[in-house]
Amino acid sequence: QCGIAVESRIDCGRDRSLSRADCEGRGCCYVPLPQSGLGGPPWCFYPVRYPGYKMGPLLPTEKGQRATLARSEPSYLPRDIPTLQLDVMPETLGRLHLTLKDPASPRYEVPFVTSQSRGHKDIQNPLYDVDFQPDPFGFIVRRKSNGRVLLNTTIGPLLFADQYLQLSTSMASSAISGLGEHYTPITLDLNWSSVSLWNRDMASANLYGSHPFFLVQEGDGQAHGVFLLNSNAMEVFLQPAPALTWVTVGGILDFYIFLGPSPQSVVQQYHEVIGYPMMPPYWSLGFHLCRWGYTSTNITRTVVQLMRQAKIPLDVQWNDLDYADQRRVFTFDPQRFGDLPQMVEEFHQLGMKYVLILDPGISSASPPGSYKPFDDGLKRGVFIKNSTGQILIGKVWPGPTAFPDFTNPTTQDWWMDCIRVFHSKVPVDGLWIDMNEPSNFVQGSVDGCPDSDLEKPPYTPGVIGGQLNSGTLCVSAQQYLSNHYNLHNLYGLTEAIATHRALLKVKSTRPFVLSRSSFPGLGRFSAHWTGDVRSDWEQLRFSIPGVLLFGLYGIPLVGADVCGFGGDTTEELCVRWTQLGAFYPFMRNHNDRPNAPQEPYVFSQQAQDAMRTAITLRYSLLPFLYTLFHHTHSSSSTVARPLFLEFPTDPNCQSIDRQFLWGSSLLISPVLEEGAVQVTAYLPPGTWYSLFTYTIAYCSKGQCILFPAPLDTINVHVREGSIIPQQVPALTTTASRRNPFTLIVALSVGNWAKGELFWDDGESLDTFEHGHYSYVLFFAQESYVVSKPVKLNGSLDGLVLGEVRVFGVQASPTAVWANGQKVHDFSYSPDTKVLPGLDSPMTAMITVQWS
Ligand code: NOJ
Repeated sequence: QCGIAVESRIDCGRDRSLSRADCEGRGCCYVPLPQSGLGGPPWCFYPVRYPGYKMGPLLPTEKGQRATLARSEPSYLPRDIPTLQLDVMPETLGRLHLTLKDPASPRYEVPFVTSQSRGHKDIQNPLYDVDFQPDPFGFIVRRKSNGRVLLNTTIGPLLFADQYLQLSTSMASSAISGLGEHYTPITLDLNWSSVSLWNRDMASANLYGSHPFFLVQEGDGQAHGVFLLNSNAMEVFLQPAPALTWVTVGGILDFYIFLGPSPQSVVQQYHEVIGYPMMPPYWSLGFHLCRWGYTSTNITRTVVQLMRQAKIPLDVQWNDLDYADQRRVFTFDPQRFGDLPQMVEEFHQLGMKYVLILDPGISSASPPGSYKPFDDGLKRGVFIKNSTGQILIGKVWPGPTAFPDFTNPTTQDWWMDCIRVFHSKVPVDGLWIDMNEPSNFVQGSVDGCPDSDLEKPPYTPGVIGGQLNSGTLCVSAQQYLSNHYNLHNLYGLTEAIATHRALLKVKSTRPFVLSRSSFPGLGRFSAHWTGDVRSDWEQLRFSIPGVLLFGLYGIPLVGADVCGFGGDTTEELCVRWTQLGAFYPFMRNHNDRPNAPQEPYVFSQQAQDAMRTAITLRYSLLPFLYTLFHHTHSSSSTVARPLFLEFPTDPNCQSIDRQFLWGSSLLISPVLEEGAVQVTAYLPPGTWYSLFTYTIAYCSKGQCILFPAPLDTINVHVREGSIIPQQVPALTTTASRRNPFTLIVALSVGNWAKGELFWDDGESLDTFEHGHYSYVLFFAQESYVVSKPVKLNGSLDGLVLGEVRVFGVQASPTAVWANGQKVHDFSYSPDTKVLPGLDSPMTAMITVQWS
């Protein structure tokens, strides 16, 4: 019973450390190890077949099958749920849904994350098989095609008490990605580690969001994923077996298992459940500039002027809390920001956009009648209440604050009214919702929290500060849909939904919302940034897995603060960060108050040139990036993509997170080390063309190559077989969207390539859904390239294809024709194999041929 391999021991004492007597009193095995029991394998662990639930017969239901589970004897936890209902619902060929709940009294279930596409019960031949062990209960999910065990929960007991739910499973491999938001490499550390999912405002630790989803690379190119839809405080333990244990302090167990089989299809299957990402406005893909400390409109104006003088593209200027009168949201300081409306108009005249910050905490200390958002909110009953029914008061930037309860429909309407009134004065283009974990500078509330089972559950997942109410609200606080104990992790999501809805109503264009806190489903409403990262090289490196993982979580519009937020940056770091940031899907340079300035124009000419080059390169690639966003919105393919997603059968790609791809065709290999002027980059098998230098084609067998990377260079390679639509860059996207297009054609060894362009007005709602867009297909074969509009809706009128550059033309052509007409000014160089030269309307079919 106790003869279990050390790496497979499942800890029987998670809730507290146990003496031998305590351990054996629980019916567990106590086998000390030479090394300390702390942080390594447990000394007290469950024996094989530890008593749990006994499963009754499986009976058919509308959606699948159902069984009743009964505890054979009480567990060691308070308030066991003695009887459980198991539902097994095969929803699609690749998706299995499995829930465990209390049939006697309903428990809290996550209200917002939708499963839009419900499957059918009559799934013929799904990719999975499920087996059950009836006593003690456990289930085993196998991949039918090869019999591989993906999950096996019989390795440990099922515990299901009121405030403690636990299930363990073996894992099919050690390459696991997910369970964010944390500061981790792309694959998790399984060496007796744990991750807690409880949204917190933690600088440099990235704990702002909770994503109880992970993807497992099975090692042969196949992958599966598991999503535990539960918003309670959770801790997931990882051990080298490889195995994993979920512990959550409430709700139900609601599992979705995705069978892929490719990693990209796992991501798609997950997003089918949580919802596909929103389509961002085109301008939001431009460069954004912010800092805490632009203390007046004049200072903010000067920033914009200096950027324009430096000829560095800038689409969106931001203000942090500086604008607000006594840091109260929905106001602006009459002295320093008195002409804010006018400033925003001026930016609009320049073709730019403007975004400002909006914290959820509403100042509660202004004299009655002097601050409408609070007075109105009070009247309308929009704020979260403490357990005895008074408004809970915490402390954030303006001092004492009340917290809107966004789960209440009245609050959503009040929020919309606040935004509408503010927008009628200050026509902002988007909103930045910060501090929405929610963050609180006092523990729980200014009056503390009651002493209760909610505030002090039998088990508290490892959270900084040791208590669930540390740095946030009392979890016994009451919200419209449930208590904060259950809803805490949804605070940012619910605020994002309300803010998105308000902007949509007020502006009738695609909303832009940037949220710090996140939960599955956020990507349908909001972008995300990785919070308060420090200006150092390590944080620069970790920003890549941070960004890539959010793609898996369905929030593709994501980036880290370029040049870092905390501490002083250096010129070199800021240049390298700008080069990498040019390939974050969301690119914003943002800085904290006390730090050295880091706007591109404050650096040397050489640094400014390097930054301009990087940002300009991004601008030229925006049509391609926008097309990738169309795909993520319409079919949930990822934008910034880890290599393993694109090359799943290449074992070298399994854990690469110093490089990444845009879609399937651009490989980005940034410099991430101080002083480095070269970069070692892995090129998956195939031919890759350097985009930055246009010079060399690398024929890789799947190998690491050392590339020159002087300070002005970021290595970007185009994959053979792809056609990348570009546009001549400009200082804003308003201007660049009118410029000629360019095609980069990267011929494959077999002399073909393909690509596409999705194009619309960049801001109208639901253009894809309503068919209000244009679509152009590009393909190349042997000695011609064709640009073929397959759908035209007017948005491409007046735009031209200015140039075609073909990489990989083996010999100098003697003649080139565009639509049958001879082109005289084409050029060819044996080195670069580039072939430009034409000017035709994008709305027509264009053929370029050479011989
Ligand atoms: C915390 C945010 O993470 C940071 O970006 C912002 O500048 C400050 N709050 C001040 O609003």
